[in-house]
Amino acid sequence: MSDHDQLKLTEMNYSPDRPKAENPIKIEDLTFRDGHQSLFGTRGRTEDMIPVAEMMDEIGFWALETWGGATFDTMHRYLNEDPWERLRTLKKYVKKTPFSMLLRGQNLVGYRNYADDVAKAFVERAAANGMDIFRTFDALNDYRNFETVVPAIKAAGKHFQGVICYSLTEPRLGGDVYGLDYYVRKAKELEAMGADTICVKDMAGLIAPYDAYSIVKALKSTVKCPIHLHSHSTSGMAALAELKAIEAGVDIVDTCMAPYAGRTSHPPIEPLVMTLLGTNRDTGFDIRKLVEIDAILEKECVPKYMHLLDDSKLSAIDIGVLLHQTPGGMISNLVNQLRQMDALDRIDDVYKELPRVRKELGQVPLVTPTSQIVGIQTVNNVLFDTPEERYKMITAQVKDLVFGLYGKTAIPIDPEVQKKALKGYPRGEKPFGGRPAEILDPELDAAKKAVLDTGLGKDIDDVILYAIYPVTGTKFLKWKYGKEVPPEEVRAKTLEEALKEKELMTKARQGLLVEKIQKEIPEKGEALRKFNVFIDEDYFEVDVEEVGGAPVVSFAAPRPAAAPAAAPKAAAPAAKPAAAPKAAAPAVATADGTPVIAPMPGMIVRYEKEVGDEVAEGDTVLILEAMKMENAMTAPCAGTIKEIPYGPGDSVPKDAVLAVIG
Ligand code: CO
Repeated sequence: MSDHDQLKLTEMNYSPDRPKAENPIKIEDLTFRDGHQSLFGTRGRTEDMIPVAEMMDEIGFWALETWGGATFDTMHRYLNEDPWERLRTLKKYVKKTPFSMLLRGQNLVGYRNYADDVAKAFVERAAANGMDIFRTFDALNDYRNFETVVPAIKAAGKHFQGVICYSLTEPRLGGDVYGLDYYVRKAKELEAMGADTICVKDMAGLIAPYDAYSIVKALKSTVKCPIHLHSHSTSGMAALAELKAIEAGVDIVDTCMAPYAGRTSHPPIEPLVMTLLGTNRDTGFDIRKLVEIDAILEKECVPKYMHLLDDSKLSAIDIGVLLHQTPGGMISNLVNQLRQMDALDRIDDVYKELPRVRKELGQVPLVTPTSQIVGIQTVNNVLFDTPEERYKMITAQVKDLVFGLYGKTAIPIDPEVQKKALKGYPRGEKPFGGRPAEILDPELDAAKKAVLDTGLGKDIDDVILYAIYPVTGTKFLKWKYGKEVPPEEVRAKTLEEALKEKELMTKARQGLLVEKIQKEIPEKGEALRKFNVFIDEDYFEVDVEEVGGAPVVSFAAPRPAAAPAAAPKAAAPAAKPAAAPKAAAPAVATADGTPVIAPMPGMIVRYEKEVGDEVAEGDTVLILEAMKMENAMTAPCAGTIKEIPYGPGDSVPKDAVLAVIG
């Protein structure tokens, strides 16, 4: 056979016209959602999906994940993008392939349970805006949290994919909580609810290949609907697990396009296409088309996000995940939070405390929002607990979890923690055992009033955005309707800017970049003398002039290129600028009194006291949101509130004075 013939033969094998497999594996692509959520902090913009959207539609994916998860939050909060608009826009380019979204059950796309009327309206609007497949999960695998959204999905004629969150308490499948029988039992529950497909969602990349095999075998022999596996490459097992799952007969697996694959993201599609080529599970995909898409993503899209990639380690595998059972996103959140608090050196303590806190909080699976709830409480414990007292600062969300607002935990909550968390809890000191959303009053009418009656927004989609995210939603709607100018940091980075940054980074790595310190240059005087300075082979000409009299230092420190507009808020609260500076210097209390200090950077949700109010020690003065968890900031002493330098929606740095008590 000549070289030419061999080439032809290869062409034939690659050809999309090759014989169809007996039972082709179906693929859901996650590039437009979980891919950038995992690698780039969910910062992917619609404009960077459009260049490949039509080509993606041609591949033959079972579905494209385009929405849900953290996108709804991130888009309106950080990208100044209307989340609903992304769906409508992408739908114009993707006409054949169904869209899939990640729906957090009654949490929708937020971090708490929303009332039934909001949940129903959200599903209806998501369907109307173009969503087809609702991958629905509950962080506790408590399917009572599906009871509102599932009928809404079905009523809209859409696909209900029921999720079992994969969790372990042991290194491998087994143990008394998360054994094989647990997954079989959950699959039966989902089938009984009318699941069109069932997805085992391994958000932390914990599923070992042979465990994936066992689970798929067991589920395939128990339930009738197709089985779908979702895993992350974090620990390095995902691609192997998917292959074993395929051997066991799994129907659908999740992958990403190569530039968005690997690390805390998902296995890439391209090697899987080659692996299965010519087998009875052949994808049937045209690998050359995939490579064309990869080239565009690599050249035009990814450069804009490279600064968000955690490339601090050469290893693309996080072995720690296997030990700590910590989802990829959670690790970066923990690291970010610790870094902001100048406490990155406590990361090992956080890893040590994490399994303990998890067990005390009912051995919950670690997935949004429970991963954040457990993670931030762990950070709080590590940073604020004393040898005499644990759980010194309990977040509002932990109190809600303990009360039962999220659902039933896998094992009962530790009684000591329960008692402490529910002390003075407004809904009652005894946990509630019902369907969580049952006790929530309708929320939609109030949101309609707040949005439509005030002119803040114009339609039901604005109302739902506000109902889910009242504080950041208000900010976004003001940008959307031109009432406020969006800050510089929400602007999209251009490819030119990204490439320039990349060039600077390359120079810096090669040591060609010298930090230029801006300083005032004094006038050259008459006493200037020239010196030749030789260093090895190099030669410099240096001007030297003695400054007369005692040495005078004309500047003390290098000046930052552009000083952020640090508002002197504590001194002049009346002059508060409309947009809070992101990196304002810690405020200094000018009035006499005891300050309430921010123990961490965050955003003010609301003040519960006003200037002039009397407070007792321990009274809640304000609610500070940090890493999406609400923390009650309490009065360190009794007295009168003398000063409140910030307002709702303001971002504050660590150590900011949030109030002064005199
Ligand atoms: Co995921």
